[in-house]
Amino acid sequence: MDLDDFRWLLTDEGQALLAEATALVAEGTPPLAAGSALRRMTTPERAATALTQVELRGRAVAKFADLAPRMYFTPDALEQATRLRVARHRAGRAAAFGAQTLVDLGCGIGGDLVAAASTGIVCAGVDLDPVRVAVAEANLAALGLPGAVQVADATTVDHSGFDLAFADPARRSGAGRSFRVEDWTPPWSWVESLLARDACVKVAPGIPHALVPDDVEAEWVSDDGEVKEAALWAGRTATVARRATVIGAGGLATITDEEDPGPGAVGVRAVGGYLYEPDGAVIRAGLVTAVAAGVDGGLVDPRIAYVTADQPFRTPFARSYRVLETLPYREKQLKSALRERGIGRLTIKKRGVDVSPEALRKRLALSGDAEATIVLTRVAGEGTALLVEPF
Ligand SMILES: C[S@@+](CC[C@H](N)C(=O)[O-])C[C@H]1O[C@@H](n2cnc3c(N)ncnc32)[C@H](O)[C@@H]1O
Repeated sequence: MDLDDFRWLLTDEGQALLAEATALVAEGTPPLAAGSALRRMTTPERAATALTQVELRGRAVAKFADLAPRMYFTPDALEQATRLRVARHRAGRAAAFGAQTLVDLGCGIGGDLVAAASTGIVCAGVDLDPVRVAVAEANLAALGLPGAVQVADATTVDHSGFDLAFADPARRSGAGRSFRVEDWTPPWSWVESLLARDACVKVAPGIPHALVPDDVEAEWVSDDGEVKEAALWAGRTATVARRATVIGAGGLATITDEEDPGPGAVGVRAVGGYLYEPDGAVIRAGLVTAVAAGVDGGLVDPRIAYVTADQPFRTPFARSYRVLETLPYREKQLKSALRERGIGRLTIKKRGVDVSPEALRKRLALSGDAEATIVLTRVAGEGTALLVEPF
């Protein structure tokens, strides 16, 4: 979709065709038939533009929930956009910091921009790509949000007049997501200079801790158990060194290095009645021992991110399991133990051991009506199989 196609989509004629395409898809019309029906009303290019937009809105529901049917997307920019729940958390933090104005330096189609504008912060966005700028502008308008967007190079724009600068550098490279920070656009050297002011920069969750400058807070965020990103908070927005924020059905919870007594205080201990599997954001943030301290527990092994304790705790920072028994780790004996218990359906979790759960499940040739979960891991350096149940 080029700029002219998108501008046409926003005209009355374009909107009428988009509504037609939306209705056809909602009725369950197969894509080929919907395309033919639309081509009878307009040119093949415009029919394709409308139909693609409907398809993208459908895909975007996973990220933008009920806002998706009113927004506009391009395939790549949708892929790169921040999911609404994570963007809202960031925007809420920016508002709590007291930012009244924010500039989004590389706003794409406006995933972060619309979340920030929704909080009442006066927002401006720039992007090098004119189509994305037009789409971001249309998204603000479609959601009834104020804000200004323009084509500009983030690396040369004067952002000094804004309370907060935000950036989400593109991390695509020819080989997919790039962990070479100098390949980001804008590159890491520019990000580092931005971190000298009140700023927030979204980065890949795999960012090495050593890369985070002193006095900059790194926050890892997971949504529904999946680590989505890290954000670097600089200047007066930094509150701690490391933070893990987990967003789930029950809301949002956050844990920081201030609550972490560290590995010196939280040691390795024998497996107790309960096992805790820390959220990925906690692991990335290096806060497993903070979670262990929170459940009055310890680690099963110094290098493995499982926590064990004697008491059941409900924590947003880990999945909790009751340990039922220790099963044999050797495959032949494990197979007969599962047989004896009539376990036909098995969830296999593993950490720190070289096992392919799929291949193992096949070799175990399970049969029976019972369902169970086993955890394969190292306990004090020894391969161990634990029969557990979630609670
Ligand atoms: C990962 S996307 C941003 C996604 C956005 N945060 C969202 O949630 O929709 C990065 C954007 O930065 C833009 N970009 C890259 N280099 C830029 C530069 N030097 N100036 C302005 N924009 C730039 C790209 O065109 C792209 O749209």
